[in-house]
Amino acid sequence: MNQIAPKKLFIKTYGCQMNVYDSDRMADALAPHGYAPTQDMAEADLVLLNTCHIREKASEKVFSELGRLKELQNEKRATGGDLMIGVAGCVAQAEGEEIARRAPMVDMVFGPQAYHRLPDMLAKAEGNRHMHPALRRAVVDTDFPEEDKFAHLPAAKKDVTIGRGLTAFLTVQEGCDKFCSFCVVPYTRGAEVSRPVAQVVEEARRLADAGVKEITLLGQNVNAYHGEDVSGRAVGLGELAYLLAEIPGLERLRYTTSHPRDMDDALIAAHRDLDFLMPYLHLPVQSGSDRILKVMNRKHTAAEYMRLIERIKTARPDMAFSGDFIVGFPGESDADFEDTLKIIRDVGYSSAYSFKYSTRPGTPGANLTEQIDEAVKVERLARLQDLVNKQTSDFHASCVGRTLPVLIERVGRMPGQVGGRSPYLQAVHLEGSTDLIGGIHEVEIIGTSTNSLVGRLRQAVAA
Ligand code: SAH
Ligand code: SF4
Ligand code: F3S
Repeated sequence: MNQIAPKKLFIKTYGCQMNVYDSDRMADALAPHGYAPTQDMAEADLVLLNTCHIREKASEKVFSELGRLKELQNEKRATGGDLMIGVAGCVAQAEGEEIARRAPMVDMVFGPQAYHRLPDMLAKAEGNRHMHPALRRAVVDTDFPEEDKFAHLPAAKKDVTIGRGLTAFLTVQEGCDKFCSFCVVPYTRGAEVSRPVAQVVEEARRLADAGVKEITLLGQNVNAYHGEDVSGRAVGLGELAYLLAEIPGLERLRYTTSHPRDMDDALIAAHRDLDFLMPYLHLPVQSGSDRILKVMNRKHTAAEYMRLIERIKTARPDMAFSGDFIVGFPGESDADFEDTLKIIRDVGYSSAYSFKYSTRPGTPGANLTEQIDEAVKVERLARLQDLVNKQTSDFHASCVGRTLPVLIERVGRMPGQVGGRSPYLQAVHLEGSTDLIGGIHEVEIIGTSTNSLVGRLRQAVAA
């Protein structure tokens, strides 16, 4: 490699954890081409926006951010420098050509399936720099290629995942074939594909060798995972969990996001058998009304979801659940909304994410005529959030008096404190030396504070 100072890369990540994972892979892919990550946008030579299209608000952020970047680019040019700008992610996939048209200062626009081609695109875009700005056009790549992008991207490694040295994300599955009527993901991420088992195990092993203790497997429908093993047989997520449990040094496994219809017996059995698999499950239901669930194309009823919850609890009695909810889906009546509150009460979530329905162009939901007034959405969201906030604090309170294994991850907010995560993904703070960091320790929960637990060290169970 040449000796000139490396160029600086700044990536701004929006949206879900899969984007976080992808941003790290893009940084890894550009490192051999002379780009070193920076945390300071102002000193960057290349800024990548890794965008999210899931709701209108998320999508709009891109254009306001591009406005700010335009100013930065102008400032740099005025002083003889320059700034290259790339738009990646789900907005790029959905609106590639429009971004290139509306934002001429953008050099590259490329979707999630093109990340392994980033170095080539960059070379092309750098070539375009010699053209007059008025003639220049962004390099656009929003094809869904045949080849496996993961086979061409560097695997996750610890040093690039800044600040996440003990825990890491690992994407095992991408895309979605479910086509819920509100959702853009099947269009932005494409058809559902799973990475081969050996590739996943190898990446997990490398993360563990680098000191990672806890991996979260990612996928838009992670429990639809069906990666091939070396003999070409499809392996489900449950079976994969047993394979990953064998990796020396790896202590904990999580996965997100799951679809209720893909929660199969093998995966439920893995929850019964493996303490390695954390007893915390993000299992979105979206609505508690069968009528709305049908129009949403979720392909299950509220009662079926409840039966599933019961089956999982039978296998793993201490399982905590989290969920996603949409309020104000077209046609949602007061009674439908009450059904959603009912299912929340029946399940008793430890946490939940809730959203006002946002009409997404190109989805079947956009053609539904009976849109709900914004004021109604606001009111329903507030009521729903009151309920889940109460459930979250009840859940935290129910942990007081229990002793939980906590992965100590960092120094605490106060001097002499350290912080970590419970099996249920709760933040836990306790008095203790920094030597504890990196270990899983038995911690007695003695209190709660806003959004976290306060604990007291019992004894070390793993170093
Ligand atoms: N694959 C996951 C969800 C991915 S999107 C699943 O099936 O559960 C994350 C969450 O965003 C969804 O669970 C849903 O609650 C929310 N969401 C998706 N599209 C939305 C829309 N158009 N308006 C509001 N919320 C939406
Ligand atoms: Fe979207 Fe539904 Fe697929 Fe989840 S399962 S990503 S909500 S289409
Ligand atoms: Fe957003 Fe794309 Fe993830 S739309 S939620 S970044 S899959």
